[in-house]
Amino acid sequence: MLERLERLPTDPILGLMALFRADVDPRKVDLGVGVYRDDEGETPVLPAVRRAEQNVLGRQTTKSYVSAVGNAPFNQAMARLVLGEAHPALTADRVRSIQAPGGCGALRLGAELFRTAQPDTVVHVSTPTWANHVPLLSGCGLKLEKYPYYDSSTGGVKFSEMLGTLDRLPARSVVLLHASCHNPTGADLSDAQWRELLEVCRRRALVPFLDLAYQGLGRGVGEDAFGVRLFAAELPEVAIAVSCSKNFGLYRERTGCLHVISQTPAQGDAILSHLVRIARSIYSMPPDHGAAIVLEILGSPTLQEQWSEEVGAMRKRITGLRHELVKSLAKHCPQRDFGFIGTQRGMFSFFGIDTAQVHALRDQHHIYMMDDSRMNIAGLRADNLEYFAQAVAQVLRVTPA
Ligand SMILES: Cc1ncc(COP(=O)(O)O)c(C=O)c1O
Repeated sequence: MLERLERLPTDPILGLMALFRADVDPRKVDLGVGVYRDDEGETPVLPAVRRAEQNVLGRQTTKSYVSAVGNAPFNQAMARLVLGEAHPALTADRVRSIQAPGGCGALRLGAELFRTAQPDTVVHVSTPTWANHVPLLSGCGLKLEKYPYYDSSTGGVKFSEMLGTLDRLPARSVVLLHASCHNPTGADLSDAQWRELLEVCRRRALVPFLDLAYQGLGRGVGEDAFGVRLFAAELPEVAIAVSCSKNFGLYRERTGCLHVISQTPAQGDAILSHLVRIARSIYSMPPDHGAAIVLEILGSPTLQEQWSEEVGAMRKRITGLRHELVKSLAKHCPQRDFGFIGTQRGMFSFFGIDTAQVHALRDQHHIYMMDDSRMNIAGLRADNLEYFAQAVAQVLRVTPA
């Protein structure tokens, strides 16, 4: 039976990682993989995580099962981190939460929940969106459609086109929104735009599905949740998929959760009973370790303070690199305006060069980014930023777009 299967093409990001690994040039720069890197090019265990982990391991007396909703105090602590203390949806007992294997697990749980409630649900995603959204959301049979989002001429959002499209959708359409640090473009909505979008969602009875994978890496822990908090307070039904991979640096521990806001506590209980059934049917129970670490941090004022400083340091490094990069590119490539990189948020930007230029950077200068020119800004370092800008200048001279 299995011999019928034909080999699939290599995933583009895995292919890029393999090319990078095989490159022996000491100047090589990895701007492909979507993980945070410090100025040494490392993705370290955060000191707050290390301390919390030691506490957790020192206290642990069993590895017995937890439950299908995972670590309930973790879920509650995450709801407070995401929504803010005393958020109206929390005080009205309208939030139900389930731990998930990473943000990806939360996205899939949400998709399965929508399919259970309404099998012909259409999920609308931004153009472009994170490549993994497509298999995660359509894998359970939901239909995906696209709404306009990124404006390559400004590096910002085509907001009126986006609103115009969403304002024509039928009621109970699901709209997937990147809460902050849009992946792959770095183009985020302003607070005023979130408010306008809220009115369209309300008027058309749309169901927002917010993907919060970079809380703290854009403008700040509270600021990055502006849209999430607004929508959760104002709309009857909202789902929020949260990842602790980037902001807690817990990638491989697969830590995340799904929060669903509904109209009444009784509806919330019904929703949670379905989420438990869905989780049981896919993986039964989520991994515990990362959630225990996050709970240890969020449950201790000292550790939480330390974590806030550490996530703040990551954010400042990314913002600083963005500004340095804009300056360096202005010096080496004055013919082209890269100012948009300084106004975007989070780890990613679409650099805005064509595939031939991306390949020239790779083949001639050992600089690796995705073919669509998505680059991970955090992959740059103080000591190779200038090298990068000079390489771009050469590539633009030889193969102008
Ligand atoms: C937009 C977006 N959503 C969700 C995730 C979820 O990541 P994980 O499943 O590793 O927590 C990521 C990770 O790269 C992401 O970029």
